[in-house]
This record gives sequence, structure tokens and C-alpha cells, in this order.
Amino acid sequence: MKLAAGSIPRTDAEYLLMHLLGTKRHGLYSELPVRTRTADRFRRLVARAQAGEPVQYLTGSAPFLNFDVRVDRRVLIPRPETEELVARAIARIRSGREPSAVSRKLLAVDYGTGSGCIAIALARTLPQARVLAVDASKAALAVAARNVSRYGLAGRIRLAQTRAPDEPVLARRRGRLDLLISNPPYVPTSRLARLDRNVRREPKLALDGGPKGANIVAMLLAHGPDLLKPGGLLAIEIDSTHEAVVRKLAPAAEIERDLAGRIRYAFLTR
Ligand SMILES: C[S@@+](CC[C@H](N)C(=O)[O-])C[C@H]1O[C@@H](n2cnc3c(N)ncnc32)[C@H](O)[C@@H]1O
Repeated sequence: MKLAAGSIPRTDAEYLLMHLLGTKRHGLYSELPVRTRTADRFRRLVARAQAGEPVQYLTGSAPFLNFDVRVDRRVLIPRPETEELVARAIARIRSGREPSAVSRKLLAVDYGTGSGCIAIALARTLPQARVLAVDASKAALAVAARNVSRYGLAGRIRLAQTRAPDEPVLARRRGRLDLLISNPPYVPTSRLARLDRNVRREPKLALDGGPKGANIVAMLLAHGPDLLKPGGLLAIEIDSTHEAVVRKLAPAAEIERDLAGRIRYAFLTR
């Protein structure tokens, strides 16, 4: 750890070292000597992290709820706010269903799946769920496919490329979804250049939500409800500036704050 002192945040240095040593945090602070080769590799990773490369890209993996996903420059690194989106959507589904209906098939769409983290979390948590995970990026879908098969979920998660919720792959499912969930790109274009430099290493397509950041949020609010069955749930992660657009396009939506107190989620039940 001394090798990284002062150059990158301590938690990042710990994350890199845990990866190199294949250990948990407590294993980092034993007095066992570290091999010279490992120390050299650690130094090189610290230098790349110092130059702005996210540690999750350096290790190739990121945690999400109770599992982890492989990540690289083709996909967004999953965020804690999105873990919260999934947890709240699942809680709503569970509380809104008749006990007998809980075991019935549940059809979900993860719009803008990236690494596949949301789709995988749904399939792991809700054994009755079938998930269609879509993304505009072929490169992202390749990463998601790898993650899905790693967890043996290829039979329950289908991947497809699409650029809008009214394209055929989704329109075909009109009125049939129990859940449409999305963490879409929602950063206003003008704000992209001001993001932390490590965030700027993530795909622009995963971040850029257009002039007000609400391009895809608006598409989901406009077309999403038609895709849901009665009682189905639309769950979207939004920017803190999107309250007005949500209220205008979906007055019945419930807007919720994240754990830091910022507006972050819109939920709409059909
Ligand atoms: C913020 S990332 C979310 C990734 C992942 N679901 C997560 O929460 O970590 C948004 C994703 O939406 C995809 N995307 C961007 N524009 C899209 C569009 N028009 N239609 C579908 N997906 C899109 C991006 O490629 C990216 O993977």
C-alpha cells in the first residue's frame, strides 16, 4: 500500500491490490512479503489509475449487489444508485403482487443494459423472471452476453440491439411487460466535458442524454407505458434536473430521491 501512498485514493489502491493478490481487504494488511513481480504490476496499475483510468477497467470487474460483472471500456461501470433502482423496483413488484401471482412468469425489459448488471440482478433475484436486455451498442451487448453466460442465465436473458422503445423488438411486446426498467444515458451534453476525468473514460453513448439529458428518459416515458400490462411497472433512473420533464410527460409517476437525497428515480405503474 505504501507504493501507492498519496498518488490515488486509498480505496482504489486497496481495490487494485485485492485484485492482484486475490484476497479480501483484511488480507492486505498481513505482514506477508509481496513478490517483486506483484509489486511491479501494482506500480504499473497505480500509474494507470493516476492517469485517470477507472480501477474497475484495470481489474476488469465491478461489484453489483451480491455479484460482480466483467467490465471494460465498452460499458458503463455499474453505480450504487442503480443497485438502489433495482432494489426498489423488486420491492415494488413483490409488494404489488398477489401471493399466487408471485410464482407466475414475469416478463421484464432492461433498456440500455450495458454490462447486463440490471438484467442479471433481476434474473438472479426473481426466479420466475424472463428478461429481454436491449442496448444500442453492439459492443456493450458483447460484454453483457459474456456476463449473462458466466452466470448460466442465457436461457432466461435474451439480448437484442435496439435504439428506441418503439422499435419492433419491443413494440412486439406491447401490453405484455411486467417491468420496464432502465438506467439510460442521462447526462446533459453540455455537462459531459465537466465530468471527472475517469468518468470521461466511460462510453459517451452510455452517458450523453442529449441537450437536457432527457432524450431517452422522454422516449421511455412516452412509449414505455404502452409496453406494460395493466399493473406493470416502469422504473427509470433519472438526473436530478429531470423532475419537470417527468411531471409533464407522466404526471402520475412517483419521483423518488436517492440515498444522498437527490432526485434520482421515476416509477410509474400502469
Ligand atoms: C447509463 S448506461 C447503463 C448501463 C447499465 N444498465 C448500468 O446500469 O450500469 C446506458 C446504456 O444505454 C445504452 N444506450 C444509449 N443510447 C441508447 C438508445 N438510444 N437505445 C438503447 N440503448 C441505448 C448505452 O449503450 C449504455 O449501455
